Amino acid sequence: MTGVLDGHTALIVGANGGIGQAIAYALGAAGARLILAARDRGKLDQLRTELDAAGSTADTVPTDIIDDDAVRRLVERAAAEGMDIAVNNAGTSHRPAPLGDLVIEEADRVLRVTLRGTLVAMHHELAVLPDGGSIVNVASTAGVAGAPGMAAYVAAKHAVVGLTRTAALDYAARSIRVNAVAPGSIDSGGTTAQPDRIRQQIGSAAPLARLGSPAEVAAAVLWLASPAAAYTTGAVLTVDGGKGARGA
Ligand SMILES: NC(=O)c1ccc[n+]([C@@H]2O[C@H](COP(=O)([O-])OP(=O)(O)OC[C@H]3O[C@@H](n4cnc5c(N)ncnc54)[C@H](OP(=O)(O)O)[C@@H]3O)[C@@H](O)[C@H]2O)c1
Repeated sequence: MTGVLDGHTALIVGANGGIGQAIAYALGAAGARLILAARDRGKLDQLRTELDAAGSTADTVPTDIIDDDAVRRLVERAAAEGMDIAVNNAGTSHRPAPLGDLVIEEADRVLRVTLRGTLVAMHHELAVLPDGGSIVNVASTAGVAGAPGMAAYVAAKHAVVGLTRTAALDYAARSIRVNAVAPGSIDSGGTTAQPDRIRQQIGSAAPLARLGSPAEVAAAVLWLASPAAAYTTGAVLTVDGGKGARGA
Protein backbone atom coordinates (compact mmCIF):
# COMPACT_ATOMS: atom_id res chain seq x y z
CA MET A 1 0.00 0.00 0.00
CA THR A 2 1.32 3.48 -0.78
CA GLY A 3 0.89 6.42 1.57
CA VAL A 4 1.15 10.18 1.12
CA LEU A 5 4.18 10.25 3.43
CA ASP A 6 6.06 7.26 2.00
CA GLY A 7 9.78 8.07 2.07
CA HIS A 8 9.32 10.84 4.67
CA THR A 9 10.67 10.86 8.24
CA ALA A 10 8.71 12.72 10.94
CA LEU A 11 9.86 13.84 14.36
CA ILE A 12 6.95 14.17 16.81
CA VAL A 13 7.81 16.10 19.98
CA GLY A 14 5.22 15.39 22.68
CA ALA A 15 4.15 12.05 21.20
CA ASN A 16 2.76 10.48 24.38
CA GLY A 17 -0.57 12.18 25.04
CA GLY A 18 -3.90 11.70 23.30
CA ILE A 19 -3.25 14.12 20.44
CA GLY A 20 0.43 13.17 20.10
CA GLN A 21 -0.39 9.47 19.82
CA ALA A 22 -3.11 10.15 17.26
CA ILE A 23 -0.60 12.17 15.20
CA ALA A 24 1.87 9.28 15.42
CA TYR A 25 -0.78 6.83 14.17
CA ALA A 26 -1.89 9.13 11.34
CA LEU A 27 1.61 9.95 10.06
CA GLY A 28 2.74 6.34 10.49
CA ALA A 29 -0.29 5.00 8.59
CA ALA A 30 0.51 7.49 5.81
CA GLY A 31 3.93 5.85 5.46
CA ALA A 32 6.22 8.16 7.46
CA ARG A 33 9.05 6.72 9.48
CA LEU A 34 8.66 8.16 13.01
CA ILE A 35 10.92 9.50 15.74
CA LEU A 36 8.87 9.91 18.90
CA ALA A 37 9.89 12.14 21.81
CA ALA A 38 8.34 12.94 25.20
CA ARG A 39 9.44 12.50 28.81
CA ASP A 40 7.81 9.20 29.81
CA ARG A 41 10.00 6.35 28.49
CA GLY A 42 7.50 3.60 29.40
CA LYS A 43 4.66 5.26 27.49
CA LEU A 44 6.93 5.85 24.49
CA ASP A 45 7.96 2.17 24.44
CA GLN A 46 4.32 1.08 24.62
CA LEU A 47 3.40 3.42 21.77
CA ARG A 48 6.27 2.10 19.64
CA THR A 49 5.10 -1.49 20.23
CA GLU A 50 1.53 -0.58 19.22
CA LEU A 51 2.71 1.29 16.13
CA ASP A 52 4.91 -1.64 15.21
CA ALA A 53 1.85 -3.94 15.41
CA ALA A 54 0.02 -1.47 13.15
CA GLY A 55 2.83 -1.72 10.57
CA SER A 56 4.59 1.59 11.28
CA THR A 57 8.28 2.08 12.03
CA ALA A 58 9.16 4.24 15.04
CA ASP A 59 12.20 5.11 17.14
CA THR A 60 11.79 6.63 20.58
CA VAL A 61 13.97 9.26 22.25
CA PRO A 62 12.92 10.18 25.80
CA THR A 63 13.33 13.94 25.98
CA ASP A 64 12.31 16.76 28.31
CA ILE A 65 11.66 19.78 26.11
CA ILE A 66 12.90 22.16 28.82
CA ASP A 67 16.38 20.60 28.57
CA ASP A 68 18.06 22.52 25.70
CA ASP A 69 20.90 20.00 25.26
CA ALA A 70 18.47 17.09 25.17
CA VAL A 71 16.40 18.85 22.49
CA ARG A 72 19.54 19.56 20.45
CA ARG A 73 20.60 15.89 20.67
CA LEU A 74 17.07 14.74 19.78
CA VAL A 75 16.96 16.88 16.64
CA GLU A 76 20.51 15.87 15.64
CA ARG A 77 19.46 12.25 15.86
CA ALA A 78 16.25 12.89 13.91
CA ALA A 79 18.27 14.70 11.24
CA ALA A 80 20.66 11.75 11.00
CA GLU A 81 17.62 9.55 10.35
CA GLY A 82 16.45 11.83 7.52
CA MET A 83 13.87 14.02 9.30
CA ASP A 84 12.00 16.21 6.81
CA ILE A 85 8.85 16.76 8.92
CA ALA A 86 8.70 18.00 12.53
CA VAL A 87 5.55 18.18 14.64
CA ASN A 88 5.77 20.19 17.86
CA ASN A 89 2.93 19.04 20.10
CA ALA A 90 4.40 19.23 23.63
CA GLY A 91 2.41 21.58 25.78
CA THR A 92 1.04 21.96 29.25
CA SER A 93 -1.53 24.10 30.99
CA HIS A 94 -2.23 25.61 34.41
CA ARG A 95 -5.16 25.76 36.83
CA PRO A 96 -7.67 28.39 35.70
CA ALA A 97 -7.37 31.70 37.56
CA PRO A 98 -7.66 35.37 36.66
CA LEU A 99 -4.19 36.79 36.02
CA GLY A 100 -4.08 38.53 39.39
CA ASP A 101 -4.51 35.18 41.14
CA LEU A 102 -2.32 33.09 38.83
CA VAL A 103 0.40 31.11 40.62
CA ILE A 104 3.54 32.49 38.96
CA GLU A 105 5.44 29.20 39.30
CA GLU A 106 2.66 27.50 37.31
CA ALA A 107 2.77 30.24 34.69
CA ASP A 108 6.56 29.84 34.41
CA ARG A 109 6.20 26.08 33.82
CA VAL A 110 3.61 26.65 31.08
CA LEU A 111 5.79 29.25 29.37
CA ARG A 112 8.92 27.07 29.68
CA VAL A 113 7.30 24.00 28.13
CA THR A 114 4.74 25.42 25.74
CA LEU A 115 6.48 28.56 24.48
CA ARG A 116 10.21 28.24 25.14
CA GLY A 117 10.22 24.49 24.49
CA THR A 118 8.57 24.99 21.09
CA LEU A 119 10.93 27.87 20.26
CA VAL A 120 14.05 25.83 21.09
CA ALA A 121 12.75 22.78 19.21
CA MET A 122 11.98 24.91 16.13
CA HIS A 123 15.40 26.58 16.39
CA HIS A 124 17.16 23.23 16.10
CA GLU A 125 14.71 21.78 13.56
CA LEU A 126 15.00 24.74 11.19
CA ALA A 127 18.79 24.51 11.30
CA VAL A 128 18.72 21.01 9.82
CA LEU A 129 15.46 20.59 7.88
CA PRO A 130 16.10 20.07 4.17
CA ASP A 131 14.64 22.38 1.53
CA GLY A 132 11.01 21.38 1.05
CA GLY A 133 10.73 20.21 4.67
CA SER A 134 7.80 21.04 6.90
CA ILE A 135 6.95 21.94 10.49
CA VAL A 136 3.50 21.64 12.05
CA ASN A 137 3.01 23.20 15.49
CA VAL A 138 0.10 22.26 17.72
CA ALA A 139 -1.19 25.62 18.95
CA SER A 140 -4.76 26.04 20.22
CA THR A 141 -7.81 28.24 19.79
CA ALA A 142 -6.20 29.84 22.87
CA GLY A 143 -3.51 30.92 20.39
CA VAL A 144 -5.93 33.08 18.42
CA ALA A 145 -8.34 34.39 21.08
CA GLY A 146 -8.45 34.97 24.82
CA ALA A 147 -9.74 32.31 27.22
CA PRO A 148 -10.93 33.32 30.70
CA GLY A 149 -8.59 32.25 33.49
CA MET A 150 -5.92 30.91 31.12
CA ALA A 151 -3.61 33.93 30.74
CA ALA A 152 -0.25 32.14 30.68
CA TYR A 153 -1.50 29.33 28.44
CA VAL A 154 -3.13 31.85 26.09
CA ALA A 155 0.08 33.91 26.00
CA ALA A 156 2.16 30.81 25.27
CA LYS A 157 -0.12 29.60 22.47
CA HIS A 158 -0.34 33.09 20.90
CA ALA A 159 3.46 32.99 20.89
CA VAL A 160 3.41 29.58 19.15
CA VAL A 161 1.23 31.14 16.44
CA GLY A 162 3.72 34.03 16.18
CA LEU A 163 6.66 31.64 15.89
CA THR A 164 4.79 29.72 13.19
CA ARG A 165 4.01 32.76 11.06
CA THR A 166 7.47 34.29 11.41
CA ALA A 167 9.34 31.08 10.63
CA ALA A 168 7.04 30.58 7.63
CA LEU A 169 8.24 33.95 6.28
CA ASP A 170 11.90 33.33 7.16
CA TYR A 171 12.07 29.92 5.45
CA ALA A 172 9.67 30.26 2.50
CA ALA A 173 12.56 30.93 0.11
CA ARG A 174 13.76 27.38 0.83
CA SER A 175 10.22 25.96 0.48
CA ILE A 176 10.25 24.94 4.14
CA ARG A 177 6.61 25.24 5.17
CA VAL A 178 5.66 26.12 8.76
CA ASN A 179 2.02 25.80 9.80
CA ALA A 180 -0.03 25.30 12.94
CA VAL A 181 -3.23 23.60 13.94
CA ALA A 182 -5.44 25.30 16.51
CA PRO A 183 -7.55 22.66 18.24
CA GLY A 184 -10.60 23.71 20.23
CA SER A 185 -11.94 21.42 22.95
CA ILE A 186 -10.54 17.97 22.24
CA ASP A 187 -11.18 14.75 24.15
CA SER A 188 -7.59 14.45 25.34
CA GLY A 189 -5.34 15.46 28.21
CA GLY A 190 -7.03 17.59 30.86
CA THR A 191 -10.40 17.46 29.06
CA THR A 192 -10.54 13.63 29.15
CA ALA A 193 -9.81 13.78 32.89
CA GLN A 194 -13.05 15.74 33.54
CA PRO A 195 -16.29 14.01 34.63
CA ASP A 196 -18.70 13.09 31.77
CA ARG A 197 -21.11 15.89 32.68
CA ILE A 198 -18.37 18.53 32.38
CA ARG A 199 -17.00 17.02 29.16
CA GLN A 200 -20.49 17.21 27.63
CA GLN A 201 -20.84 20.78 28.80
CA ILE A 202 -17.49 21.72 27.25
CA GLY A 203 -18.39 19.97 23.99
CA SER A 204 -21.81 21.57 23.74
CA ALA A 205 -20.19 25.04 23.61
CA ALA A 206 -19.07 24.32 20.03
CA PRO A 207 -21.49 24.73 17.09
CA LEU A 208 -20.92 21.04 16.28
CA ALA A 209 -22.03 20.41 19.90
CA ARG A 210 -19.39 17.86 20.88
CA LEU A 211 -15.74 17.51 21.79
CA GLY A 212 -13.31 16.90 18.94
CA SER A 213 -11.30 13.70 18.84
CA PRO A 214 -7.50 13.49 18.78
CA ALA A 215 -7.81 11.73 15.40
CA GLU A 216 -9.60 14.78 13.98
CA VAL A 217 -6.65 16.98 15.02
CA ALA A 218 -4.19 14.43 13.63
CA ALA A 219 -5.98 14.49 10.25
CA ALA A 220 -5.32 18.24 10.01
CA VAL A 221 -1.67 17.78 11.01
CA LEU A 222 -1.28 15.05 8.37
CA TRP A 223 -2.69 17.29 5.65
CA LEU A 224 -0.46 20.24 6.60
CA ALA A 225 2.63 17.99 6.73
CA SER A 226 1.86 16.32 3.40
CA PRO A 227 2.65 17.40 -0.17
CA ALA A 228 -1.11 18.03 -0.58
CA ALA A 229 -0.52 21.29 1.36
CA ALA A 230 2.46 22.32 -0.78
CA TYR A 231 1.13 25.90 -1.25
CA THR A 232 0.15 26.37 2.41
CA THR A 233 2.57 28.02 4.82
CA GLY A 234 2.09 30.32 7.80
CA ALA A 235 -1.46 28.98 8.17
CA VAL A 236 -3.27 28.38 11.44
CA LEU A 237 -5.88 25.71 10.78
CA THR A 238 -8.62 25.62 13.41
CA VAL A 239 -10.07 22.25 14.40
CA ASP A 240 -12.65 23.60 16.80
CA GLY A 241 -16.13 22.37 15.92
CA GLY A 242 -16.93 25.77 14.44
CA LYS A 243 -16.28 27.93 17.53
CA GLY A 244 -14.07 30.38 15.61
CA ALA A 245 -16.84 30.99 13.06
CA ARG A 246 -18.69 33.05 15.66
CA GLY A 247 -15.97 35.73 15.50
CA ALA A 248 -16.04 38.54 18.02
N1 LIG B 1 -6.88 18.70 24.73
C1 LIG B 1 -7.28 19.85 24.22
O1 LIG B 1 -8.48 20.19 24.30
C2 LIG B 1 -6.31 20.75 23.51
C3 LIG B 1 -6.81 21.88 22.87
C4 LIG B 1 -5.95 22.73 22.19
C5 LIG B 1 -4.59 22.46 22.17
N2 LIG B 1 -4.12 21.36 22.81
C6 LIG B 1 -2.67 21.15 22.74
O2 LIG B 1 -2.42 19.87 22.16
C7 LIG B 1 -1.18 19.37 22.66
C8 LIG B 1 -1.39 17.97 23.19
O3 LIG B 1 -2.31 18.05 24.26
P1 LIG B 1 -3.15 16.83 24.86
O4 LIG B 1 -4.49 17.35 25.14
O5 LIG B 1 -3.00 15.62 24.01
O6 LIG B 1 -2.43 16.70 26.28
P2 LIG B 1 -1.54 15.59 26.93
O7 LIG B 1 -2.23 14.28 26.77
O8 LIG B 1 -1.21 16.09 28.29
O9 LIG B 1 -0.22 15.62 26.01
C9 LIG B 1 0.86 16.47 26.24
C10 LIG B 1 2.05 15.89 25.53
O10 LIG B 1 3.18 16.71 25.75
C11 LIG B 1 4.23 15.93 26.36
N3 LIG B 1 4.97 16.79 27.26
C12 LIG B 1 4.48 17.52 28.32
N4 LIG B 1 5.49 18.15 28.93
C13 LIG B 1 6.63 17.82 28.24
C14 LIG B 1 8.00 18.15 28.39
N5 LIG B 1 8.44 18.94 29.39
N6 LIG B 1 8.90 17.64 27.51
C15 LIG B 1 8.49 16.83 26.51
N7 LIG B 1 7.21 16.48 26.32
C16 LIG B 1 6.29 16.97 27.19
C17 LIG B 1 3.51 14.78 27.06
O11 LIG B 1 4.30 13.60 27.23
P3 LIG B 1 5.13 13.28 28.59
O12 LIG B 1 4.21 13.58 29.73
O13 LIG B 1 5.53 11.84 28.47
O14 LIG B 1 6.31 14.19 28.53
C18 LIG B 1 2.44 14.51 26.02
O15 LIG B 1 2.99 13.79 24.94
C19 LIG B 1 -0.69 20.38 23.70
O16 LIG B 1 0.25 21.25 23.11
C20 LIG B 1 -1.96 21.12 24.08
O17 LIG B 1 -1.71 22.41 24.56
C21 LIG B 1 -4.92 20.51 23.48
